Amino acid sequence: MMPERTPYIAGNWKLWGTRAQASEYCEKLLALLPDASRRPADVGLCVPFTALDVCVEALAGSGVLVCAQNMSAEESGAYTGEISAPMLLELKVDGVVLGHSERRAYYGETDRALQEKLPVALAAGLKPILCVGETEDEREAGDMERKLRHQVGEALHEVPDERLADVVIAYEPIWAIGTGKVASPEQAQEAIAFVRALVGGRSEEAAQAIRVLYGGSAKPDNAAEILAQTDVDGALVGGASLDPEDFARIVAAAG
Ligand code: 13P
Repeated sequence: MMPERTPYIAGNWKLWGTRAQASEYCEKLLALLPDASRRPADVGLCVPFTALDVCVEALAGSGVLVCAQNMSAEESGAYTGEISAPMLLELKVDGVVLGHSERRAYYGETDRALQEKLPVALAAGLKPILCVGETEDEREAGDMERKLRHQVGEALHEVPDERLADVVIAYEPIWAIGTGKVASPEQAQEAIAFVRALVGGRSEEAAQAIRVLYGGSAKPDNAAEILAQTDVDGALVGGASLDPEDFARIVAAAG
């Protein structure tokens, strides 16, 4: 039997959100979202470390998940500027984005580091959102599948088969991030079905259960078409998530 996959709409604030902004945002968003039992999707917010506790408190009991945007694989030690899984758990954080293309491009995040971070997050009970995706040059050179195979294979290498379905993967083509150039529904479907097949190479059961999201210029006016694709299980939303009204409209588009 095919398992039902609950759609997941996550907002990635990136470098946005003072504590004051976070608090105001959460209040507005809760007023716009239906009650958890009537929501067409799981909803999450990926916010700066300094806004995590504000969001956890403001969203308590609402069912909206709160995620960090990065995490160290280490628990403690001489790693200046890093944040560990126990530190996130102490704040009652639900999940963490790992391997966002901006962290890979600007801060040297490697596939090898992600290979260590994913099992640490899962063991801690944090729900990881693993980001993968190709550049425009890679797509044009016909290298999309090679890139995705490499990123997914490396990052999930140390995740046991029985935990694969607890990972959320976000397919975010780099050429679509922050560019207004959204992937067509067909492009999103094709790449996401490929990502699911890669997981199927490890476990067919996990492939049917794992949620694979689309990310890259997702907006209220293009979300429904993308979310309607068979293999697309939700969206990781950057710019449009900064406006609670736009974000709530994207959540509604998952219905
Ligand atoms: P935009 O929605 O701003 O293109 O960002 C997508 C993204 O990177 C989400 O993680």
